[in-house]
Amino acid sequence: MLIILDFGSQYSELIARRIRETQVYSEVLSYRTTADQIRQLSPKGIILSGGPNSVYDDYAPVCDPEIWNLGIPVLGVCYGMQLMVQQLGGQVDRAERGEYGKAALVIDDPTDLLTNVEPGSTMWMSHGDSVKTMPEGFELLAHTDNTPCAAIADHQRKFYGVQFHPEVVHSVHGMALIRNFVYHICDCEPTWTTETFVEEAIREIRARVGDKRVLLALSGGVDSSTLAFLLHRAIGDQLTCMFIDQGFMRKGEPERLMEVFNEKFKIHVEYIQARDRFLQRLEGITDPEEKRKRIGHEFIRVFEEESRRLGPFDYLAQGTLYPDVIESADTNVDPKTGERVAVKIKSHHNVGGLPKDLQFKLVEPLRRLFKDEVRQVGRSLGLPEEIVKRHPFPGPGLAIRILGEVTAEKLNILRDADLIVRQEVNRQGYYDEFWQAFAVLLPVKSVGVMGDKRTYAYPVVLRFVSSEDGMTADWSRAPYDLLETISNRIVNEVKGVNRVVYDITSKPPGTIEWE
Ligand code: XMP
Repeated sequence: MLIILDFGSQYSELIARRIRETQVYSEVLSYRTTADQIRQLSPKGIILSGGPNSVYDDYAPVCDPEIWNLGIPVLGVCYGMQLMVQQLGGQVDRAERGEYGKAALVIDDPTDLLTNVEPGSTMWMSHGDSVKTMPEGFELLAHTDNTPCAAIADHQRKFYGVQFHPEVVHSVHGMALIRNFVYHICDCEPTWTTETFVEEAIREIRARVGDKRVLLALSGGVDSSTLAFLLHRAIGDQLTCMFIDQGFMRKGEPERLMEVFNEKFKIHVEYIQARDRFLQRLEGITDPEEKRKRIGHEFIRVFEEESRRLGPFDYLAQGTLYPDVIESADTNVDPKTGERVAVKIKSHHNVGGLPKDLQFKLVEPLRRLFKDEVRQVGRSLGLPEEIVKRHPFPGPGLAIRILGEVTAEKLNILRDADLIVRQEVNRQGYYDEFWQAFAVLLPVKSVGVMGDKRTYAYPVVLRFVSSEDGMTADWSRAPYDLLETISNRIVNEVKGVNRVVYDITSKPPGTIEWE
């Protein structure tokens, strides 16, 4: 295993994923993790991430200096390298001119960390400060036009530092560097594979659960579906899956879900029809946060009632993923003043959002996986591609894509418009191009003309975005032909809609969903 100490970089998770791509297990830990705690984990290497700070900031995050005495190889990336240099007695300069973007690497020592990294390779830089003097025992591996120390090494102690970000895709040969560190410097074996994960997870689930019963709330998304397949493989009929139909799914989805699980894969799912009670709870409610809260509360109420009816259960299975459990580097503390800043944009609701005080013990077999790893596991267990590749869909579903009050009539309009979006995006082969592609219904009306008649109806917004993780997103440059077909079909086929518009806002400042 390798560990990544996170100093608040937006790329820490990406480093962990890149390491896992070499089939070596990696975890992200807070920079506050002590050398003792690290020793107990016995990692074969440590990576110090980048971060938004300067090592000169008053509240700059620092690692336990005992880390340098553990005898474990260390790779410092960007801020991580500067911190290494500072803690080991070198000097970091507050550069007058930062370096942002691509830079060509001039290699001074092509061995060791830079084996197979071609001279002149483009690497991605993003830094204000730079290393001025290397600590004792260090040698120069590479430089760039603007950065005299772009890569450095103390070969003897196996301490390495790079000013650039080998983990980002723009860094050509970045993976070669990572592989050198993982395989040759840390001596790791490529043993972290989907097959070994599945075998181990099944063993662990059986050992934990014994002959007890497990309840799983299925949403139809890739996480809970993979979880269902994995648990079913491990404990068979000791698993009860429950699907609560809030009435906010896309057209045909609840039916398809039941068909796939119950009929095709013979994994029994209890279907809970709760459409009317959710709609009633939203009557007259227009505030987005209030809508989200009510849906979340109602979900818990239904869940409690139904689990009592179907139970008793000892365990609740949850599709918690690795990004949910990564200890945050507390970057919501202002590094200059030490003040805490907490901002809540939206209250998320999903099937994992159940309160902690439920009388269940938890089974969370996916808690060590990233989303792309969950997809691989799902695939290896036979989960159909339509679920494996399904775009993210919010827990409150179409209810937060109908702005203002949610009514049965508006749900029908949006479901029909959304179906056309899905059909055309699929038919024209663009599904994999988008992170999400969906329709939003606005609570205003505008005038149009159809067949010489005046119309006065709702507009539908098309929201197509590209994203890596949903945290930031760009609006997709969807082909005009695709947009035209969708617009024509919606206006012609969906009663109640006479206008289609395209959202060209990125996130930030917009969010992906409209509520
Ligand atoms: P926003 O709208 O915040 O969405 O930019 C980011 C991503 O999260 C999804 N989303 C949710 N997922 N429960 C969920 O499980 C929710 O309440 C929820 N709200 C938004 C959204 O679809 C996007 O992928």
